[in-house]
Amino acid sequence: MRPLVIANWKANLTTKEASEWLRQGQKLLEEVEKVTIVICPTFVTLPQVASSLKETSLFVGAQNVSPFPHGKYTGEVPVEILDGLVRYCLVGHSERRAYFGETNQLISTKVKLLESYRIKPVVCVENIQQAEELSDQIKTRDLVVAYEPTFAIGTGTPDTPKNAGAVAEKIKHFFGSGTPVLYGGSVTPDNALSFAQVEVLNGTLVGGSSLNPHHFVEIVKAYSKI
Ligand code: PGA
Repeated sequence: MRPLVIANWKANLTTKEASEWLRQGQKLLEEVEKVTIVICPTFVTLPQVASSLKETSLFVGAQNVSPFPHGKYTGEVPVEILDGLVRYCLVGHSERRAYFGETNQLISTKVKLLESYRIKPVVCVENIQQAEELSDQIKTRDLVVAYEPTFAIGTGTPDTPKNAGAVAEKIKHFFGSGTPVLYGGSVTPDNALSFAQVEVLNGTLVGGSSLNPHHFVEIVKAYSKI
């Protein structure tokens, strides 16, 4: 399975900073072979990133999608508006669960909406229990699962590659062996190779280290070596 490396910019990078990031990083990323690369900017910078990556091998993803269709939902971005702009969408990131009260039920609703528009959901889980519950609620198997333990997100303390691999195996047991499983949580240029070498892991979701284009390129390169 081709490794998938996703940059999650979270609530960072202004339009000016996003342009600078692309100026420094885009060409270098385009040169990397054998890795599927996705960039998830904020909704504000998303059209700008999508336009820059058009006709390249790189993909754009959203960080979230509304659980409602288009219409009277002030402040939301529905799947109809993402259609044609993104190929991937993060769903149920731990920060969405913690700060916006997202539940597995809401996450399943979002996955269903994305599925009908052929936008690939990248469903985030913090632990095996969430994965098991979601695998019962979500019908489609055309998705990516990202294992992101809360203790590792933005803390500088990643899970061990060994444990991340063991969790990924259990997630594949629930969702099917063909489901790509990523690891996310304090992945840096220094530890990326150790995660890339775990065969059962199919890539990584990178937060903090994706804000520096050169660090992100180094992480992507670690995956191209495998
Ligand atoms: P981090 O975040 O790389 O900053 O730990 C990962 C994530 O939340 O996706």
